[in-house]
Amino acid sequence: MNFILGILFSIVVVSILVFIPWIGVWAWDLRFVFGVIVPYAAIAIFIMGILYRVIGWARSPVPFRIPTTAGQQKSLAWIKPNRIDNPSNAFGVIIRMAFEVLLFRSLFRNTSLEFRQGNRITYEWEKWLWVAALAFHYSFLVVVLRHLRFFTEPIPAFVHWIENLDGFLEMGIAPFSGFSLPGILISGFVLLAALTYLFLRRLYISQTRYISLPADYFPLFLIIGIATTGVLMRYMGAFMQFIFGADWFSVPVVNVKELAMGLVTFHPVIPEDIGTIFYIHLFLVSILLAYFPFSKLMHMGGIFLSPTRNLSNNNRMVRHVNPWDYPVKTHTYEEYEDEFREKMVEAGLPVEKISEESAEDKTGSSEEAEKE
Ligand code: HEM
Repeated sequence: MNFILGILFSIVVVSILVFIPWIGVWAWDLRFVFGVIVPYAAIAIFIMGILYRVIGWARSPVPFRIPTTAGQQKSLAWIKPNRIDNPSNAFGVIIRMAFEVLLFRSLFRNTSLEFRQGNRITYEWEKWLWVAALAFHYSFLVVVLRHLRFFTEPIPAFVHWIENLDGFLEMGIAPFSGFSLPGILISGFVLLAALTYLFLRRLYISQTRYISLPADYFPLFLIIGIATTGVLMRYMGAFMQFIFGADWFSVPVVNVKELAMGLVTFHPVIPEDIGTIFYIHLFLVSILLAYFPFSKLMHMGGIFLSPTRNLSNNNRMVRHVNPWDYPVKTHTYEEYEDEFREKMVEAGLPVEKISEESAEDKTGSSEEAEKE
């Protein structure tokens, strides 16, 4: 039942976040607040938050070499080591990190335990999570890179290449004569589909549902909100205009570019005619930026600072001494016995070394006993 509360809570929070700029811009005309102040504040929080987290991790002591290993360690010449899954030098670490960051290799190797035919345990390859995670992250990256067209002048060539590749279907839909939808860019739809899958998977798999928190649902819904408002702007603006004569989702891209260029050149301007939907999109993006450093999304930076991933396993080749080690004042058993030997002997306790005095005492008393 708790998961329903978590989902409801996240939906309510994201809905409030949609209403804030909606009311703010539509009813109170606070376009400067939502078009300039909020984005600047969000970027400042994003940069400072990331620095804070990264510096915090960088300053955390790592006294032990704790790389995760999943293959044969380098040892004797005739035993074949696994250079990627058990890297013994920096080169191996970089290759493993690249596989992890670019291809999510550990997710690829993930398995889940299933009961088949009664109590028979099997391990299933969790391929769909890996596929959806790749689809989500790469489509997000492509969408963000494509957005550089708003923030750059001249637009770098690679942005055009990505856009051409992303719109390779070259499918502009023309449902009615005299009207056509802009060309379909696949990444926006892949992004939404992957997010939907990741959400449904959390609901469907009981173990995942059990451990899911609002902190897991909220970023999903927030990014769904960003992608949905983006898709509405791109594909529904002209459509709504054509059908209802309403400019609810119409956003003149030229004006958006003017606003975006104003932000990056620190000469903010608020052009006319940008619909409220754009400010909702921008506000949700700002919230995502401000939330990012303090959320689980920081795994993006954390992976590089994780000692289980960024250290090589050379434990057999190099002796690693804890750098904090300081000479600890010890009291060995020998010292203890030296200190208390007489008392121990008196009390009849066994001792490892017998002092001359007590040895004499002992021999004296045994001689006396013999005489008697
Ligand atoms: C996390 C960052 C962002 C994400 C994930 C995102 C996502 C999207 C998506 C999925 C679309 C649908 C069309 C497409 O696939 O390109 C879109 C459209 C749009 N986005 Fe964003 N967006 C982001 C940031 C921004 C920012 C900062 C701006 C401000 C300039 C912006 C302005 C727009 C505009 C104007 C459109 C409509 C584009 C068109 O009509 O071609 N977005 N966005």
